[in-house]
Amino acid sequence: MKNDLQKFIYGTILVFVIGVVIFIGYVFTVSCGFSLACNQGKQIVERTPVPTISHAPIPALVSQDNSGKCEVPAVGLLGAWVTAGSPESGVFTFNDVDGNPCEGNYADDVRPLFVEANVWYPGSYSCVSCHTADVAKTSAAKLDLSSYQGILAGSQRESAEVSGTDILGGGNWEKSLLYQFTYSRPFAPPGHGETPSTGPIVFAGKASSTPVVTPTP
Ligand code: HEC
Repeated sequence: MKNDLQKFIYGTILVFVIGVVIFIGYVFTVSCGFSLACNQGKQIVERTPVPTISHAPIPALVSQDNSGKCEVPAVGLLGAWVTAGSPESGVFTFNDVDGNPCEGNYADDVRPLFVEANVWYPGSYSCVSCHTADVAKTSAAKLDLSSYQGILAGSQRESAEVSGTDILGGGNWEKSLLYQFTYSRPFAPPGHGETPSTGPIVFAGKASSTPVVTPTP
């Protein structure tokens, strides 16, 4: 009699424990599958989509014919263009690394800095791989660097029809967002941070045709 009662109690406990184990196992496999790396409970992190593009080939720059062009730091070239009122056509002047006067234009000298890969450092993405023309959906910071109109329309644009934050600082280069993001900027997203100080020395424009006037003593 006493034994039977003992058996009954132990039996009940055993059935209860097995039931609990099966229940927990069931809930776990339903939500996590047969893997211990249960990700379902984690919050979804919202990130700016970074496109998966393969690295652009390095030799692009080397094969160009740079004879007769001026050598200038990339950030200095952008600065001269912005200071000159960022003209779309016509020339603007800048000084090369030795201080000699040079002249360039948007299409040949400024645009490549935004649309070409490998310009800012070896293996760098082009700016337009993140700052695409599709400001409403894919473009990082809702900034379109692919066209002249896009650059002037600025960043944080809700749609293609509206302008946003001026990235050219109203012509005041060192106050501009473009300066801050191209001149060495630690903790910036990839594409910005790696730029050393004034950026790489690039070949652009040509020596000014205006003769340098030497003052007569
Ligand atoms: C790998 C993607 C990527 C590349 C390449 C990239 N950017 Fe950006 N850029 C971003 C992201 C993301 C932000 C917004 C985050 C932030 O403000 O720190 C941003 C912000 C900016 C801003 C500031 C906009 C604002 O309103 O704050 C400027 C200006 C800018 N980028 C210019 C450039 C230029 C010029 C290049 C090329 C030399 C470039 N970016 C390359 C991803 C990129």
